[in-house]
Amino acid sequence: PTALAGRHFLKELDFTEEEFRGLVELAAELKAAKKAGTETRHLRGRNIALIFEKTSTRTRCAFEVAAADQGAHTTYLDPSGSQMGHKESVKDTARVLGRMFDAIEYRGDSQAKVEELAAYAGVPVYNGLTDDWHPTQMLADVLTMTEHSAKPLRKISFAYLGDARFNMGNSYLITGALLGMDVRIVAPKSYWPAQEVIDRARELAAAGGARVTLTEDVAEGVAGADFVATDVWVSMGEPAEVWDERITALTPYAVTMDVLRATGNPDVKFLHCLPAFHDLGTAVGQRIFETHGLRSLEVTDEVFESAHSVVFDEAENRLHTIKAVLVATLARESLA
Ligand code: CP
Ligand code: NVA
Repeated sequence: PTALAGRHFLKELDFTEEEFRGLVELAAELKAAKKAGTETRHLRGRNIALIFEKTSTRTRCAFEVAAADQGAHTTYLDPSGSQMGHKESVKDTARVLGRMFDAIEYRGDSQAKVEELAAYAGVPVYNGLTDDWHPTQMLADVLTMTEHSAKPLRKISFAYLGDARFNMGNSYLITGALLGMDVRIVAPKSYWPAQEVIDRARELAAAGGARVTLTEDVAEGVAGADFVATDVWVSMGEPAEVWDERITALTPYAVTMDVLRATGNPDVKFLHCLPAFHDLGTAVGQRIFETHGLRSLEVTDEVFESAHSVVFDEAENRLHTIKAVLVATLARESLA
């Protein structure tokens, strides 16, 4: 078995720097093998349940394609398609699915639910996004950063602009701190992560040499950054009424060409986990843009479509990194 055999993947803080980096390195190997047509199937006969209480394009498809590439079978339980959360408790669902499946992915609102699934399932449980953390996304972002920077990980700097109180802001702060990177959270103070998350990041930084910055000042926050990242201003599960306050508070933190120029780095790259509100391409976007007289929200179309943008590499890397999590936790044989 591999070093991470049987482990859950619930949040970044459950892993050491070496373990997290090992997953990113395994993902790079699996990506190269797939492209070369030399991929080995480590998961033949495995069955994986995919519970989605919130919608998804990338995460669901990444789990399904990764599993298929590796010879495993998936069962998708859609946002309303299981008894969990309606007639059956998380604890009972965990014990039932644990008898049938070799692993369970869960996307939903509360981190407590995915932790409870993990406590009772008896098989590895993976967090496909909760309100608090998006750890599989972080593997993809770190792989993308290593691919688009000549620097070693510990020398890379990245700035996250936007609502940092939710999954992406929390995960970026902790991941940067865990991996010894230069991580900046750039947002109004009321949109910074919870104090306990900041404290944990500062502890990790003190122990491992990361540089952690939280600032309201965009110019200071992005200066010298190798990567600039953002996320939607209103996350899944939040009420539509919060758009007004978000647009007012966060418009100064939208990623524009001026923000990229303020890095002083002509090679700066742009990251976004997607989906993004950068043009009039969606009905939801169109409604919001028309109401507020805007053409984009967290990132301009100019930045999104520019040569700085690596968002589709980042999206593709969801596949290779989620595959690494599956292989590392479920492969029967050693990979070496
Ligand atoms: N980035 C991400 O998690 O995308 P989906 O919501 O489409 O899975
Ligand atoms: N913060 C966003 C991320 C989507 C991948 C959300 O939770 O909706």
